Amino acid sequence: MASATAASGRTRPRFRIERRDAWWAQPLSVILFLGSFSVYAFWAAWVNADYYVEPYLSPLYSPCIAANCVHQMLPIIGQWWTLSPAFLILWVPLGFRATCYYYRKSYYRSFFWSPPACAVPDAAPGYSGETRFPFIFQNAHRYFFWLILIVTAFLWWDTFLAFKFPTGFGVGVGSLIFLVNVILLTLYTLSCHSCRHLCGGGLNLHSAAPLRHRLWMRVSRLNEKHGQYAWYSMLSVALTDMYVRLVATGTIVDFRIL
Ligand code: FES
Repeated sequence: MASATAASGRTRPRFRIERRDAWWAQPLSVILFLGSFSVYAFWAAWVNADYYVEPYLSPLYSPCIAANCVHQMLPIIGQWWTLSPAFLILWVPLGFRATCYYYRKSYYRSFFWSPPACAVPDAAPGYSGETRFPFIFQNAHRYFFWLILIVTAFLWWDTFLAFKFPTGFGVGVGSLIFLVNVILLTLYTLSCHSCRHLCGGGLNLHSAAPLRHRLWMRVSRLNEKHGQYAWYSMLSVALTDMYVRLVATGTIVDFRIL
């Protein structure tokens, strides 16, 4: 499938794409889905409105750590912060996803065409891996993992509050949406490759650390579906935020089940 040609100095093989299947469908769908989510998340963070309606706080704004939050959870940032409070927190989940091994594969293939599919050539003439600026920062993923654990803990607290109405315990459609969302986010977080490494990495003998071995086995099983959790949880975050907005603006009513 490849015909190599020699150029002066460096040689670079020239490829002819002989695949006749729709190999472009996957990178295209990643561009559409990931691109739409990125635009939506930025817009939702930017507007700084309609992100809270009792008892629901949009996951894009949680934890709300600025004094200008409509729903003050932990106002450790004073009144000097006048931008949207979402910007104070959104860099953590976005950084976690942007450096995720699975997303890296997806967006390198779709946005950078590097390579877009098997037996389809790279768009760029050279390849330096992740050893140089800015891609060397992908190594920060293991630190983002620790930060996302804190954010996920707050999201569980938000979900607990989503069942707490002014009249007491209750279940609204929103409560269930919050529950599904936080479960998907937890599955995505716990199936992370860094989490798997933390549980069982660096062990010479798994039988010498039975607890870590058991944890590693469980996380490994989750890890097999990491890609699916990545997409489902991303979709659920967007839908949860949309739901809060629609209820907050009065477009829909939060139907109470209990
Ligand atoms: S590898 Fe995907 S979140 Fe860690």
